[in-house]
Amino acid sequence: MPATDIPPRDRLIVALDVASVEAAEALVMRLGDSVTFYKIGYQLAFAGGLPLVRKLADKGKKVFLDLKLHDIGNTVARGVENIAKSGATFLTVHAYPQTMQAAVEARGPNLKILAVTVLTSYNEDDVKAAGYRLGVADLVAQRARQADELGVDGLVCSAEEAANLRKIVAKRLCLVTPGIRPAGSASGDQKRIMTPARAVAAGADYLVVGRPVVEAADPKAAADAIVAEIMPVLVS
Ligand code: C5P
Repeated sequence: MPATDIPPRDRLIVALDVASVEAAEALVMRLGDSVTFYKIGYQLAFAGGLPLVRKLADKGKKVFLDLKLHDIGNTVARGVENIAKSGATFLTVHAYPQTMQAAVEARGPNLKILAVTVLTSYNEDDVKAAGYRLGVADLVAQRARQADELGVDGLVCSAEEAANLRKIVAKRLCLVTPGIRPAGSASGDQKRIMTPARAVAAGADYLVVGRPVVEAADPKAAADAIVAEIMPVLVS
């Protein structure tokens, strides 16, 4: 999936981090043609949001299901087979070899598997407390290599990691980056943030954006501004 093949508007993934299906549908309606790609995570999925995947897909939208699966291989495979029928485009799994392998083998032709290397809320102490000998950077690099070898389609990473991960996986995997903040917007609880233009310049293929769009006074204008910001980086 060469980065240049993705139209600028399809690179913006708006996180539907809202409390109900009704709120999500109202936001999708308001965003109209400005947004083509949505992310559904734990909050909405467990508030009855899973059927929204099919509904959005039927409207021609793409959906990233951020369920971060991790279980024994057989259980992951059976789950992924069903998710593949939902119309989702991206699904996240934790970057453990058995989990990634099972997800890749069960994904079918239309679903792409993204691996979460190390959660961005983990620092060196957290990784050590979880029992790992490697530090964060080495663990991310090892898991990126394993994801590549196992045929995973992409990685979720912070934009700061994008340039380094590009060196490891070249263009074979797409890079999907949350923690995006247009200049002037509040960082909230995100600590490692980057503007849309800088993230794309650093090698990000897709930008996951939640609050800067969802909580904007005019979400449609906020989404349009992000697409306008990344366009010059892509043509230069
Ligand atoms: O509101 P904000 O733009 O910070 O939302 C970012 C979205 O990306 C949230 O849905 C969050 O769960 C998700 N995410 C993240 N960091 C990761 C993985 C996913 O912020 N490492």
